[in-house]
Amino acid sequence: MSDFIQELKHDHHVIQQVVAGMSAVAELLDSGKQVDPSVLADLVQFLRVFADQCHHEKEEQHLFPLLAAKTNASTRRELEYLEHEHRSAKQLVAQLAKVAAVYVHNPEVVRYRVIDLLQQLVELYPAHIWKEDFLLFPLAQQNLSPAEQQGLEEKFESVEREVGEDIHAGFEMLAKKLEAVVEYRNTGACPLCSSAA
Ligand SMILES: [Fe+2]
Ligand SMILES: [Fe+2]
Repeated sequence: MSDFIQELKHDHHVIQQVVAGMSAVAELLDSGKQVDPSVLADLVQFLRVFADQCHHEKEEQHLFPLLAAKTNASTRRELEYLEHEHRSAKQLVAQLAKVAAVYVHNPEVVRYRVIDLLQQLVELYPAHIWKEDFLLFPLAQQNLSPAEQQGLEEKFESVEREVGEDIHAGFEMLAKKLEAVVEYRNTGACPLCSSAA
């Protein structure tokens, strides 16, 4: 498997960890508990920077245009649909940022809006990632020349540099931290709750 595909798949793995965390946070809120507002702020920051500015940028600015030029109309339609899903995610995150700001002072007012937005993001990402991992990336592997694949690796490095490697590593830590809230389902000890409701 090409290095550029491994890198995108690694990003997907981190995003999936955070999606599992979002699902668990939505479940906690739905069961009447409060989460620390910093958790929502961290989620918004992750989705804006790691998922959108970094990962979606690698796909939309670099991989998709290259692939669109070398494949048929049906693949181009699929690429447009994937971009449409990126825009949907971005809109949901913008709304989540607004309600997360309200949640800091008035959690009860926006509890169900937060749950709804988290659930919409949880529904969007896994199917999107599945299509890229199992349909799009094999097509890219087949259709892009070794030089084009090498070019993508270099472009991805420059995207990572723009975002900042430390910031990138910090987000991977957040993904790990959120695993703890997923574990909560098994252990019953909630690591992110600010207080039991
Ligand atoms: Fe994508
Ligand atoms: Fe992706």
